[in-house]
Amino acid sequence: MKKFLLVLLACAALNAFADDVAKGRAKADVACGLCHGPNGISTLPNAPNLAGQQAIYLSEQLKNYRNGKRQNEVMGVIAKPLTDTEIAQLSAWYSAIKVTAETP
Ligand code: HEC
Repeated sequence: MKKFLLVLLACAALNAFADDVAKGRAKADVACGLCHGPNGISTLPNAPNLAGQQAIYLSEQLKNYRNGKRQNEVMGVIAKPLTDTEIAQLSAWYSAIKVTAETP
């Protein structure tokens, strides 16, 4: 019974994560893709790639832009209206994108 409950809990957590990823993707398509690319690989020379970045790091940066601890003209304006939920969803989406690294 305990095992069954654990599996059920794990499934619920996975479902919640998948839901965050989907919602984050939809929001990012509209609000972030222009600069950070539709797949999180930046399309602007001065915008960083977000694909595959740690969710905790992304959330921290977005909150820092929002509260002014990290200052940037563009991201300050973009992060200002984001809720904690939206930040979690956007971070889930970008961290879920798989990237590989190849050394030269
Ligand atoms: C108009 C272009 C533009 C748009 C749109 C935009 N960004 Fe950015 N973003 C930037 C630039 C430029 C930087 C680098 C800012 C700096 O130097 O701090 C940046 C930095 C970031 C960083 C910090 C990354 C790091 O490596 O520290 C995060 C996270 C981020 N953006 C998330 C988002 C999200 C999420 C959205 C959509 C809600 C978004 N951005 C929309 C241009 C943009």
